[in-house]
Amino acid sequence: MNGNGGFRSFSTIMSPPSKAIVYERHGSPDSVTRVVDLPPVEIRENDVCVKMIAAPINPSDINQIEGVYPVRPPVPAVGGLEGVGQVYAVGSRVKSLSPGDWVIPSPLFSGTWQTYVVKEEGVWHKIDKRCPIEYAATITVNPLTALMMLQDFVVLNSGDYVVQNGATSMVGQCIIQLARLRGISTINIIRDRVGSDEAKEKLKALGADKVFSESQLNVKNFKSLLGNLPEPALGFNCIGGNVASLVLKSIREGGTMVTYGAMSKKPITVSTTSFIFKDISLRGFWLQRWMNLDKVKECRKMIDYLIGLARDGNLKYETELVPFEDFADALDKALGKRGSHPKQVLRF
Ligand SMILES: NC(=O)c1ccc[n+]([C@@H]2O[C@H](COP(=O)([O-])OP(=O)(O)OC[C@H]3O[C@@H](n4cnc5c(N)ncnc54)[C@H](OP(=O)(O)O)[C@@H]3O)[C@@H](O)[C@H]2O)c1
Repeated sequence: MNGNGGFRSFSTIMSPPSKAIVYERHGSPDSVTRVVDLPPVEIRENDVCVKMIAAPINPSDINQIEGVYPVRPPVPAVGGLEGVGQVYAVGSRVKSLSPGDWVIPSPLFSGTWQTYVVKEEGVWHKIDKRCPIEYAATITVNPLTALMMLQDFVVLNSGDYVVQNGATSMVGQCIIQLARLRGISTINIIRDRVGSDEAKEKLKALGADKVFSESQLNVKNFKSLLGNLPEPALGFNCIGGNVASLVLKSIREGGTMVTYGAMSKKPITVSTTSFIFKDISLRGFWLQRWMNLDKVKECRKMIDYLIGLARDGNLKYETELVPFEDFADALDKALGKRGSHPKQVLRF
């Protein structure tokens, strides 16, 4: 029984039913995920119901489903950590958002791979609708990481160089462009694979100054390939294994290598020389740790900056919009089962 004589108030509003990508246990995403119909949920007075427009499949989404990511929502869980949606309905006390607004999760939360998401007003950030949806859906996890890493570890000045591996990743593409906007040049390392020449040209078109494949650098004349370029004070490691050593080799004395990804799943080996004679510092970056530090306001300001760049065509990266119904195909591509593909973005 409740104050209404045992019935729910007539003013109770419910979301539409939702279709979601759910995993009931951890494991390989292609075997543990399935599409599930979820029933309508109540939209309480401070809640906002969002009809999702698009959401990417990022490596961290895959790692969460595999159960190897440090943050794991309890199962069964809906996949996906970021995305963009349109406000569908709001609770009676919601003031800052109205139906039709475009919003993104900020801070990030799990469960964006579904057609309707109901969450309290405070976790949604309204964004500029002129931003193309594939950018709006992907603006937080990777571009914000690139922006943070460029400003948080080493003071860089116009004319400086940074070096990175995994340059074809979305983070890598953003580092190239965000560095260039500050007059900073980039040395980029990509893996040897089918299409690597084309990938090099694409990175150069984004503003990359130097692009090498791993095999080009795995030779004795490594230094001569870099020529008289100023040695970078900062390097980014997305991959691990041998190609992390290539980043370390090119950093100058007293420089810093920031590790943010582990795409090869291989450990980093550091020579004693790097420590004794070059005094290299090794650091790590994790966006979620930083975002949890009560940084919502700061973070949203940076997101608005990135949204503005994407809206105006000053920040570009490759994506492939895929209908939600084709999730299985998109997942195969994101898992690398069919070679290299642009970032897969589900279109609801
Ligand atoms: N620490 C953080 O807060 C944070 C935030 C964002 C992202 N990340 C991490 O950053 C990394 C990149 O994320 P992203 O979304 O930008 O990547 P992405 O756009 O999905 O691209 C994947 C990248 O990894 C490379 N790659 C894939 N499999 C590989 C393998 N087995 N060996 C070597 N390279 C491989 C790809 O190279 P090809 O182009 O040659 O296929 C491509 O450069 C991931 O590890 C992700 O988890 C971390």
